[in-house]
Amino acid sequence: MTPFPTMGKGGQGKAVVLKNVSQCKRPGIGLIRRWACASLLVAGMFPVAALPAPGPTPQEADFLARHWPGDTIPPQGPPPKDYTSLESSLSAADCGVCHPRQYEDWKTTLHSRAMGPGVAGQTVDMREEDPATARMCWRCHAPLTEQQPLLQRPADGRWVENPAFDAGLQHQGLTCAACHVRAHRRFGPPARADSEPSAHAGFNVQTAFGKSAFCAHCHQFPPGDYALNGKLMENTYNEWLASDYARQGVQCQDCHMPDRRHLWRGIHDPAMVKKAVTITVSGAQNPLKVGDTLAATIRVLNSGTGHYFPTYVTPKVFVRAQLTDASGETVAGSLREAIIGRETTPDLSREIYDTRIAPGDSVDIVYAHPLPRPGLQLQIEVRVEPDHFYERFYRGLLESGTPKKGRAAIEQALVNAQQSSFVIFEQTLLLDIRSMP
Ligand code: HEC
Ligand code: HEC
Ligand code: HEC
Ligand code: HEC
Ligand code: HEC
Repeated sequence: MTPFPTMGKGGQGKAVVLKNVSQCKRPGIGLIRRWACASLLVAGMFPVAALPAPGPTPQEADFLARHWPGDTIPPQGPPPKDYTSLESSLSAADCGVCHPRQYEDWKTTLHSRAMGPGVAGQTVDMREEDPATARMCWRCHAPLTEQQPLLQRPADGRWVENPAFDAGLQHQGLTCAACHVRAHRRFGPPARADSEPSAHAGFNVQTAFGKSAFCAHCHQFPPGDYALNGKLMENTYNEWLASDYARQGVQCQDCHMPDRRHLWRGIHDPAMVKKAVTITVSGAQNPLKVGDTLAATIRVLNSGTGHYFPTYVTPKVFVRAQLTDASGETVAGSLREAIIGRETTPDLSREIYDTRIAPGDSVDIVYAHPLPRPGLQLQIEVRVEPDHFYERFYRGLLESGTPKKGRAAIEQALVNAQQSSFVIFEQTLLLDIRSMP
C-alpha cells in the first residue's frame, strides 16, 4: 500500500475535520446539522416484536451467573458412565461428528482462533512469569479448566501443573464446550421442532442462549474495570443496551448468529463491515472553476451495527480523499485523511481521541481543497484496519525483545495483523473544472 501521510504526522496530509453530525445531546454546535438521532433503521430490518425488557430475565441472569463463573469454568470431572467415548469428548471436531453445521461454521471464526499466535505467543511466556495474568487472558480466550496448563492450589495459592490439561483443546480457543458443556451436561437454546435429543442424555434448555447477556461475560468489562476517559475499555454490551436495537429486542445473536448459525462475523469481515455503515458523498457540484475551493462531504452513518462502529480500541477506519489527474497522480498536498476509531497510547494508559460512531449516529467528513487546474477528479476510499492497534503492539513487543518462547508466534501474529486490512468503499467523482475566461 502507498504510504500516505497520516493524521498528525507532518507533510502534506492534514487531518480532515471529523465532525459528529448528530449531537442530539449538544445541539447547535458550529456547522453541524442535527440529523438521524432518532431515525434508526432497525424497524425496517427486523420484525418488531412486543417489547420486552432488553436485559435477561431474573432466571436467565441467575443461570448466566452460574454458567460463566469467575475466571475459569470448573473441571468437567469424569463423564457419565453411559456416555460413549464420542459423547465424553470435549473436542470440537467430536461435537462436529453429530453437529457438522455448527462445526463447519465455527472453524471459520475468530472464536476458534482465540488461542491464535497473538494470544498464545504472549501467554506462553506469561504463564511462567505471571500465571495469574495468563489465567485472566484464558478467561475469555480458553475458558475451560481443561484448556489451562496451570491451576492455583486453593490451600497455599501456589501454581501447579493441571492434571486435566489438554493442549489440543487449548489450541481450539473458544471451543463448543466452553459455551455449551458444564459437568459433561449439554446446555442449549430451546430445541427446534424437528430436534431429536438422542445423544449425551439430551440437553438442558436455557433461553439465555438467545440473549445478548450470554455474550457479555467476554464482550463487556464489569463496572469498575479498566476504563479510559470514563469509558470502559470493553463496553459492547452496554453500548448495545443503550441503543434502539435493545429496545426493539434485536440481540447480538440476531446479527452475529443469524438462524443460529455459528458465524460471529465482525470487523475482520468485509461483507459484515459493508452492512455496518452507509456511506454517501454530497457537494462537489459540477461545473467548477479553477481557483475555487472544492467542498465535498462524506457522511458515514452507523446504519447496521448494534454498538459503536467500531466497538473496540483495536480497529481503525480510514476515510481518505484526494484530487488526482487523468493519469491517476495525486495533486500534491491534496490528500486528506480522517480516522474513525478510539485511539489510545500503545500502553493503553491514555485516550488520544474517540471518533467512533454510536448506533444510528453519523459523522460528516468535510473535504475542502482549492482546484489548481482542470482535468481532475476526487477519489474517495474507506479502508478498514481491523488490527491497527495490534500491528503496532506486536512490533513494539518484538523490538523490546520481550517475547522469549513466544517470539515466533508473535512474528506470525504481526504478519497476520498486517494482512487483515481491506477497502469497503471507493468512489471517483469526475470534476468538470473550467478555466477562468
Ligand atoms: C468465553 C468468552 C466469549 C464469549 C462467551 C463470546 N465471545 Fe465473542 N469473542 C471472544 C474472544 C476472545 C474473541 C476474539 C478472538 C480472537 O480474535 O482472538 C471474540 C470475537 C468475537 C467476534 C469477532 C470480532 C472481530 O474482530 O471480528 C464477534 C463478532 C463475537 N466475538 C461475537 C460474540 C457473540 C455475538 C457472542 C454471544 C453469542 C460471543 N461473541 C460470546 C470471546 C467470547
Ligand atoms: C473480557 C474478555 C477478554 C479478556 C480477559 C482478554 N481478552 Fe483478548 N480479546 C477479547 C476480545 C473480545 C477480542 C477481540 C476484539 C479485539 O480485537 O479487541 C480479543 C482480542 C485479543 C487479541 C487479538 C486477536 C488475536 O487473537 O490475535 C489478542 C492478541 C488478545 N486478545 C490477547 C489477550 C491477552 C494477552 C489477554 C490477557 C492479558 C487478553 N487478551 C484478555 C477478549 C478478552
Ligand atoms: C461463543 C459461544 C458458543 C460457541 C463457542 C458455540 N456455540 Fe453453539 N450456540 C451458542 C448460542 C448462543 C446458541 C443459540 C443461538 C440463538 O439462540 O440464536 C447456540 C446454538 C447451538 C445449537 C442449536 C442450534 C440450532 O440450530 O438449533 C447447537 C447444536 C450448538 N450450538 C452446537 C455447537 C457446537 C457443536 C459448537 C462447536 C463447533 C458450538 N455450538 C459452539 C453459543 C456457542
Ligand atoms: C453422538 C452424537 C452427538 C455428539 C458427539 C454430540 N452431540 Fe450434541 N446433540 C446430539 C443430538 C442428537 C442432539 C439433539 C438435538 C439435535 O437434533 O441437534 C444434540 C443436542 C445438542 C445441543 C442442544 C441443541 C438445541 O437445540 O439447543 C447442544 C447445545 C449440543 N448438542 C452440543 C454439543 C456439544 C458442544 C458437543 C461436543 C462437546 C456435542 N453436542 C456432541 C448429538 C450429539
Ligand atoms: C444490528 C446488528 C448488530 C447487533 C445487534 C450487534 N452487532 Fe456486533 N457487529 C455488527 C456489525 C455490522 C459489525 C461490523 C462492524 C463493526 O465492527 O463495528 C459488528 C462487529 C462486532 C464485533 C467486532 C469488533 C469491533 O471492534 O467492532 C464484535 C466483537 C461484536 N460485534 C460483538 C457484538 C456483541 C457482543 C453484541 C451484543 C451485545 C453485538 N455485537 C450486537 C452488527 C451487530
